[in-house]
Amino acid sequence: VSAVITRGQRVRTAVLISGRGSNLAALLAAAADPAYPAEITLVLSNRPDAPGLTLARDAGVRTVALAHADYESRKAFDRAMHGALEAHGTEFIAMAGFMRLLSPWFCAAWQGRLINIHPALLPSFRGLDTHARALAAGVKIHGCTVHHVVPEVDAGPIIGQAAVPVLPDDTEATLAARVLAAEHRLYPLALARVTGKTMKTEPDQPFLLAL
Ligand code: GAR
Repeated sequence: VSAVITRGQRVRTAVLISGRGSNLAALLAAAADPAYPAEITLVLSNRPDAPGLTLARDAGVRTVALAHADYESRKAFDRAMHGALEAHGTEFIAMAGFMRLLSPWFCAAWQGRLINIHPALLPSFRGLDTHARALAAGVKIHGCTVHHVVPEVDAGPIIGQAAVPVLPDDTEATLAARVLAAEHRLYPLALARVTGKTMKTEPDQPFLLAL
């Protein structure tokens, strides 16, 4: 991060989405404060019909929609995405429900400047259907993780986590809702921590958010 933040201004951050955009909304709300170290300057979706794009436009944030099906390969799509990110002066990327694997090339290009939120306490429950798998496993504590992105899926260094209880009557839906509320608290804190590191706006201490 320190390599790219040279102007002492807010970090120009793109949010990558594929759908609803509730984590995007949490990041937009946090970044509405001028003291927040990241500014959301672009929202990019691989699905042109993603509801989150409307949220972004309503907040006055520029949007780009690139339908991944229009590209011949994962790398071709990632190169197009990279071009759009560069064209908008992007310094940092936060993935928020971006449901597409990234090529090793893209991960390398943005190494240290690319983070993701995952709906489980990594390294448990990488991948999809995390809430159903947590219920099936019988865990009593579940949650979410913000981590740096590396080519191996959901395996990058952990930035922060938020924990929630699993209650006896939980269904996949009730557990998902509890974790999602935790995501909305965790992600703005985690993004501020990573982008604020060189801007001295956050105390330099590790954090564990246990809700
Ligand atoms: C969130 O729960 C996020 O953690 C998850 O998708 C949801 C997106 O919701 N991401 C993943 O599963 C990534 N593999 P949102 O669009 O309302 O933020």
